[in-house]
Amino acid sequence: MLSSRSFTIFSRQCLSRSSKKWSPALIQIQSRSYVAAKDEVAKFRGTKNPNGNYTVTLIEGDGIGPEISQSVKDIFKAAQAPIEWEPVDVTPQLKDGKTVIPDEAIESVKRNLIALKGPLATPIGKGHVSLNLTLRRTFNLFANVRPCKSIQGYKTPYDNVDTVLIRENTEGEYSGIEHVVVPGVVQSIKLITRRASERVLRYAFQYAEQVGKQKVRVVHKATIMKMSDGLFLGTARKVAQEFPGIEFDAELLDNACLKITTDPAPYADKVLVMPNLYGDILSDMCAGLIGGLGLTPSANIGEEVAIMEAVHGSAPDIAGKGLANPTALLLSSIMMLRYMGLGSHASKIEKAIFDTLAEGKTITRDLGGKASTSEYADAIITRL
Ligand SMILES: NC(=O)c1ccc[n+]([C@@H]2O[C@H](COP(=O)([O-])OP(=O)(O)OC[C@H]3O[C@@H](n4cnc5c(N)ncnc54)[C@H](O)[C@@H]3O)[C@@H](O)[C@H]2O)c1
Repeated sequence: MLSSRSFTIFSRQCLSRSSKKWSPALIQIQSRSYVAAKDEVAKFRGTKNPNGNYTVTLIEGDGIGPEISQSVKDIFKAAQAPIEWEPVDVTPQLKDGKTVIPDEAIESVKRNLIALKGPLATPIGKGHVSLNLTLRRTFNLFANVRPCKSIQGYKTPYDNVDTVLIRENTEGEYSGIEHVVVPGVVQSIKLITRRASERVLRYAFQYAEQVGKQKVRVVHKATIMKMSDGLFLGTARKVAQEFPGIEFDAELLDNACLKITTDPAPYADKVLVMPNLYGDILSDMCAGLIGGLGLTPSANIGEEVAIMEAVHGSAPDIAGKGLANPTALLLSSIMMLRYMGLGSHASKIEKAIFDTLAEGKTITRDLGGKASTSEYADAIITRL
C-alpha cells in the first residue's frame, strides 16, 4: 500500500522531475490515493433534517415494488423510526443512446447519502443496460453485502444457516472488457486491482467487527488464477494485519460450495469475502439454503452512498394482486437502519418480523400462508 509518507516522497520526486509543475495526471493520482490504513471505509455521513429525522431516498421500483415499499413505510411509521422518505422516479431515460437515471433521482441520493430500492425491471431492447448496474456504477457501490439467516417458521433443509457474504462489486469478471480476437475466438478480461481489492477487504474486516463475527475468510481460486486471485488473496493477507482481533483464513471456491451445502454451521462465525463472479454465484447459493431470493436482503455499499435492496426481481406475475412478500425489502431496510447507526429501531422491527414469521399464522402465500401483503404488514405492526 502507498502510505501517505511514501506518497509525499513520490509526489515530490515527480514534482522536481516535471519542471516544478503538477501535471493533471499527477493531481488525479493524488486524488485517487489509497484509503489510509485504519480509515473507516464507507461510514454513513448523513445528518438529520430540521425535523430531527433522516431523509432517505426511496426507489419504489417496478412490479411488486410499490406494494412492498408501502409495507416498509407503514411498519416504519408504526415503529416511529426517525426516517422521512423521499420517493424518486428512476424510469430510464435515453441520452445519446445510453440509459441514464433522471438527474433528480441522482441528486436525491447524493444529498441523502442513503437509499432504499425496490426491484427494477430491466427493459428489453437496444440501448438499455440494466438500471441496477447503472446505479452501481453511478454511485461506485463497491461492496455487495448479503447476509443469509434461517428464518424460524419457514422449513428448509437446514435451520441453522447464518452466513454473511461480501462480494466485490466493481471489477473482476464483470469489468465488461471483452473482444473478438479472431472470428470464433473471444477474450474476456478479469480485472483485479489492489486498490479495489483493498477497499472491499478492509470493509469486510470492519463489517465483521461491527456485527460481532470473529473470522474473515477469503474465497478464491488463486491455485488457477495465480495473478488475479493471487493479488486479491495477497492483499487480504496484508489488510488482515490491521485487524489482529479478527482471525483470517482462505478457502478455495469449490471447497466452500461443497462444505456450505453439506453443513452450513461452521460458517456462522465468519464473513466471507470474494471477487465479483464468485460472490454473485455463492450468494445465490446461500440464499437457496434459507428458502430462496424472496427472503434475502442486501446492501450495496459505496464510499459516500449506500443503497439497500431486496435481492428478488419485480415479480410481474403477481404484481398488483396483494400477494407479494415484503420480507426481503423489510430486512434490507433493517440493514439500512443499522448502517445509519439506528440499531435499536432495527432490532425492534426485526424482532416483530421474525416473531410474526415464526408464529406462522399471518404469512404470505410464497411461504405457505394465506395472508395478503398488507395483512402480513399489519401483523408485524400489531407486534410493534
Ligand atoms: N435487483 C433487482 O432490481 C432485480 C433483481 C432480479 C430481477 N430483476 C428484474 O425483475 C424482473 C422479473 O425477473 P424474474 O421474473 O426473473 O425474477 P423475480 O425475482 O421477479 O421472480 C421470480 C419468482 O419469484 C417470485 N417472487 C419474487 N419476489 C417475490 C416476493 N417478494 N414475494 C413473493 N414472490 C416473489 C415471483 O412471483 C416469480 O415467481 C426482470 O425485469 C428482471 O430484470 C430485478
